[in-house]
Amino acid sequence: MPSLSIPRPIDLSVLAPDIETLVRSSHHLIVELQTPEGAYPASPTFSAYEGYCWFRDGAFIADAVSAYGDEASATAFFDWCSRVIVGRQDQIRWIVAETRAGRPPTGDRMLPARFTFAGGDGVDDWWDFQLDGYGTWLWALTAHVERFGLDPDRWSLAVQLTVDYLLSSWSRPCYDWWEEHSESVHVSTLACVAAGLSAVRSGGLVDAERVEALERCVGEIRELITERGVRDGHLVKWLDDDAMDGSLAAAVAPLGVVGESSALAIGTLDAIERRLTVDGGVHRYLGDTFFGGGQWPLLSCFLGLAQLSAGRPERARELLEWAASTANAELEVPEQVDHHLISPGMKQEWLERWGPVATPLLWSHAMIIRLAVQLATDGHPSDLARPEGTTR
Ligand code: BGC
Repeated sequence: MPSLSIPRPIDLSVLAPDIETLVRSSHHLIVELQTPEGAYPASPTFSAYEGYCWFRDGAFIADAVSAYGDEASATAFFDWCSRVIVGRQDQIRWIVAETRAGRPPTGDRMLPARFTFAGGDGVDDWWDFQLDGYGTWLWALTAHVERFGLDPDRWSLAVQLTVDYLLSSWSRPCYDWWEEHSESVHVSTLACVAAGLSAVRSGGLVDAERVEALERCVGEIRELITERGVRDGHLVKWLDDDAMDGSLAAAVAPLGVVGESSALAIGTLDAIERRLTVDGGVHRYLGDTFFGGGQWPLLSCFLGLAQLSAGRPERARELLEWAASTANAELEVPEQVDHHLISPGMKQEWLERWGPVATPLLWSHAMIIRLAVQLATDGHPSDLARPEGTTR
């Protein structure tokens, strides 16, 4: 297991002391639970997640610990991802070849969303075909390599395989961040894929042969989002509709697929605030029934990161405070809270099916770390006086 020492500690003293304590204990919790293989368990005790690591959760967790200054823990996670992917190289080459030959494999033959800590397939049925995590790991890895000036060679085969997989399959409908609606193409998924492919391109992590295909693909994704993933000046949950989703804030920050102070970024953040946010708590989407459809602290942090990048540090700070307020007495942060439910009548059914809400959820802890670090590094007091809507 990686050591608990922080080689490059971030000064968090501009934050309230209770937030600083929560950030430090969150990092401690994540590193303590990281498995000897390098995987981050989604939640150590929640019945449906126990024993599994997701590429999506894990990549955002690794990005947070990396931004916090913990090179070793993030590197161990990326090594784990790399082993998982390289271990499936035959399957990936087959998927790519079949797809190029006009025979795209069915969803159950595509790469899964979550793995056992040893890198194996799950034993239970799951909504596995999700593409976003494969983009997100590329994006988080590149940021980590740049942050610490690392030699990316050890990850290059896994990066190439992932790039080929995404180039072949990025436009396919698949399950979204919430493991739902496999019939649709989701804008958050497209944003993760575009962010990952752009990152490896600009970080020089791919060979010249792939660069052209990659640039073309990122251009096509951007065009698709602009043409069919925007309504009334904001991004939408899936193509050709006007539904909203809290995950769309990530396209602004930290993924940076939408320009941080562009009209589209502001329109998207305002729509999330107006349609999905109560106090500082963000819902996933209208119509959510999972555990009654509560508010997700990790989404408050994504919105906070995006508000900060759009020049609204005061709002980012409020969102962080709200997310931190969901921690229990043991400083564990849940997946969601029930202060405001969209479908209160559905809560009991989920409690009976899966037991209490996942607590702690490592991804929630990670997003608190990520937003706190960003506020501590860019949202220093002089920034807080900046008028809304102005750029950094
Ligand atoms: C969420 C996913 C998440 C998984 C593990 C699911 O309930 O919808 O986004 O990856 O839990 O945390």
